[in-house]
Amino acid sequence: MTEKQTYAADGFDWEGLRAHAVDAAKHAYAPYSNYPVGVAGYADDGRLLQGCNVENAGYGVTLCAECGLVSSLHMTGGGRLTHVVCVNGSGEVIMPCGRCRQLLWENGGPELLLMTVSGVKPMSEVLPDAFGPEDLA
Ligand code: THU
Repeated sequence: MTEKQTYAADGFDWEGLRAHAVDAAKHAYAPYSNYPVGVAGYADDGRLLQGCNVENAGYGVTLCAECGLVSSLHMTGGGRLTHVVCVNGSGEVIMPCGRCRQLLWENGGPELLLMTVSGVKPMSEVLPDAFGPEDLA
Protein backbone atom coordinates (compact mmCIF):
# COMPACT_ATOMS: atom_id res chain seq x y z
CA MET A 1 0.00 0.00 0.00
CA THR A 2 1.41 3.38 -0.95
CA GLU A 3 1.33 6.57 1.09
CA LYS A 4 -1.03 7.98 -1.52
CA GLN A 5 -3.50 5.19 -0.93
CA THR A 6 -3.23 5.48 2.84
CA TYR A 7 -4.02 9.14 3.37
CA ALA A 8 -6.74 11.19 1.79
CA ALA A 9 -6.89 14.94 1.43
CA ASP A 10 -10.04 15.12 3.58
CA GLY A 11 -8.08 14.77 6.85
CA PHE A 12 -9.92 11.63 7.88
CA ASP A 13 -7.72 9.05 9.64
CA TRP A 14 -7.83 6.37 6.96
CA GLU A 15 -4.70 4.73 8.31
CA GLY A 16 -6.37 4.30 11.70
CA LEU A 17 -9.44 2.74 10.11
CA ARG A 18 -7.24 0.45 8.01
CA ALA A 19 -5.54 -0.71 11.21
CA HIS A 20 -8.95 -1.70 12.60
CA ALA A 21 -9.60 -3.68 9.41
CA VAL A 22 -6.24 -5.44 9.82
CA ASP A 23 -7.25 -6.38 13.37
CA ALA A 24 -10.57 -7.72 12.11
CA ALA A 25 -8.83 -9.91 9.52
CA LYS A 26 -7.06 -11.72 12.36
CA HIS A 27 -10.45 -13.20 13.34
CA ALA A 28 -11.23 -14.53 9.86
CA TYR A 29 -12.25 -18.16 9.46
CA ALA A 30 -10.86 -18.92 6.02
CA PRO A 31 -9.55 -22.52 6.02
CA TYR A 32 -10.59 -23.16 2.41
CA SER A 33 -9.28 -20.11 0.58
CA ASN A 34 -6.59 -19.19 3.10
CA TYR A 35 -7.53 -15.64 2.22
CA PRO A 36 -8.46 -13.76 5.38
CA VAL A 37 -10.38 -10.53 4.91
CA GLY A 38 -11.08 -7.82 7.44
CA VAL A 39 -13.23 -4.75 7.12
CA ALA A 40 -13.75 -1.74 9.34
CA GLY A 41 -16.09 1.18 9.06
CA TYR A 42 -17.75 4.00 10.92
CA ALA A 43 -21.45 4.59 11.32
CA ASP A 44 -22.83 8.11 11.07
CA ASP A 45 -22.90 8.40 14.88
CA GLY A 46 -19.18 7.56 15.09
CA ARG A 47 -19.50 3.90 16.06
CA LEU A 48 -16.62 1.71 14.91
CA LEU A 49 -17.75 -1.51 13.23
CA GLN A 50 -15.74 -4.47 12.03
CA GLY A 51 -16.21 -7.74 10.19
CA CYS A 52 -14.24 -10.75 8.98
CA ASN A 53 -14.94 -13.44 6.41
CA VAL A 54 -16.37 -16.74 7.64
CA GLU A 55 -16.07 -19.64 5.23
CA ASN A 56 -18.03 -22.88 5.09
CA ALA A 57 -17.48 -26.44 3.84
CA GLY A 58 -20.32 -25.60 1.48
CA TYR A 59 -18.13 -23.07 -0.29
CA GLY A 60 -21.00 -21.00 -1.63
CA VAL A 61 -22.29 -20.40 1.88
CA THR A 62 -19.23 -18.32 2.73
CA LEU A 63 -19.90 -15.00 4.42
CA CYS A 64 -17.77 -12.13 3.21
CA ALA A 65 -16.31 -9.80 5.82
CA GLU A 66 -18.74 -7.09 4.76
CA CYS A 67 -21.66 -9.31 5.82
CA GLY A 68 -20.34 -9.22 9.38
CA LEU A 69 -19.83 -5.47 9.19
CA VAL A 70 -23.41 -4.87 8.11
CA SER A 71 -24.77 -7.26 10.72
CA SER A 72 -22.79 -5.43 13.38
CA LEU A 73 -24.15 -2.10 12.13
CA HIS A 74 -27.71 -3.25 12.70
CA MET A 75 -26.96 -5.16 15.90
CA THR A 76 -25.49 -2.07 17.56
CA GLY A 77 -28.07 0.55 16.69
CA GLY A 78 -28.39 0.83 12.92
CA GLY A 79 -27.69 4.00 11.02
CA ARG A 80 -25.62 4.56 7.92
CA LEU A 81 -22.02 3.63 7.13
CA THR A 82 -19.90 6.68 6.32
CA HIS A 83 -16.33 5.32 5.89
CA VAL A 84 -15.16 1.77 5.06
CA VAL A 85 -11.84 0.00 4.46
CA CYS A 86 -11.48 -3.64 3.41
CA VAL A 87 -8.11 -5.47 3.62
CA ASN A 88 -6.63 -8.90 2.98
CA GLY A 89 -4.47 -10.89 5.38
CA SER A 90 -1.40 -8.91 4.34
CA GLY A 91 -3.09 -5.66 5.26
CA GLU A 92 -3.45 -4.59 1.65
CA VAL A 93 -6.55 -2.68 0.67
CA ILE A 94 -8.86 -4.81 -1.47
CA MET A 95 -12.03 -4.04 -3.36
CA PRO A 96 -15.32 -5.43 -2.06
CA CYS A 97 -16.78 -8.09 -4.35
CA GLY A 98 -19.80 -7.16 -6.45
CA ARG A 99 -22.29 -8.54 -3.98
CA CYS A 100 -20.70 -6.64 -1.12
CA ARG A 101 -20.70 -3.41 -3.09
CA GLN A 102 -24.47 -3.85 -3.15
CA LEU A 103 -24.46 -4.41 0.63
CA LEU A 104 -22.44 -1.25 1.15
CA TRP A 105 -24.76 0.69 -1.14
CA GLU A 106 -27.81 -0.38 0.87
CA ASN A 107 -26.18 0.54 4.17
CA GLY A 108 -24.12 3.56 3.22
CA GLY A 109 -25.72 5.05 0.16
CA PRO A 110 -23.97 6.98 -2.60
CA GLU A 111 -21.99 9.15 -0.16
CA LEU A 112 -20.30 6.34 1.73
CA LEU A 113 -16.54 6.81 1.32
CA LEU A 114 -14.56 3.68 0.54
CA MET A 115 -10.79 3.32 0.55
CA THR A 116 -10.17 1.62 -2.79
CA VAL A 117 -7.04 0.34 -4.50
CA SER A 118 -7.00 3.65 -6.36
CA GLY A 119 -7.73 6.04 -3.51
CA VAL A 120 -10.80 7.16 -1.59
CA LYS A 121 -14.00 7.06 -3.63
CA PRO A 122 -17.70 7.53 -2.92
CA MET A 123 -19.92 4.53 -3.50
CA SER A 124 -21.52 6.41 -6.38
CA GLU A 125 -18.24 5.79 -8.23
CA VAL A 126 -17.64 2.28 -6.92
CA LEU A 127 -21.13 1.10 -7.93
CA PRO A 128 -22.38 3.52 -10.60
CA ASP A 129 -26.05 3.57 -11.54
CA ALA A 130 -26.73 1.23 -8.64
CA PHE A 131 -30.02 -0.47 -8.01
CA GLY A 132 -31.18 0.53 -4.56
CA PRO A 133 -34.06 0.99 -2.13
CA GLU A 134 -35.52 3.96 -4.01
CA ASP A 135 -36.04 1.78 -7.06
CA LEU A 136 -38.65 -0.16 -5.09
CA ALA A 137 -40.58 2.94 -4.05
N1 THU B 1 -14.11 -12.01 0.53
C1 THU B 1 -14.61 -11.10 1.41
O1 THU B 1 -14.70 -11.37 2.62
N2 THU B 1 -15.02 -9.90 0.94
C2 THU B 1 -14.91 -9.51 -0.36
O2 THU B 1 -15.40 -8.45 -0.72
C3 THU B 1 -14.16 -10.34 -1.30
C4 THU B 1 -14.00 -11.77 -0.89
C5 THU B 1 -13.71 -13.32 1.04
C6 THU B 1 -14.66 -14.43 0.68
C7 THU B 1 -13.77 -15.64 0.77
O3 THU B 1 -13.77 -16.11 2.11
C8 THU B 1 -12.38 -15.11 0.44
O4 THU B 1 -12.47 -13.70 0.51
C9 THU B 1 -11.89 -15.52 -0.93
O5 THU B 1 -12.81 -15.20 -1.91
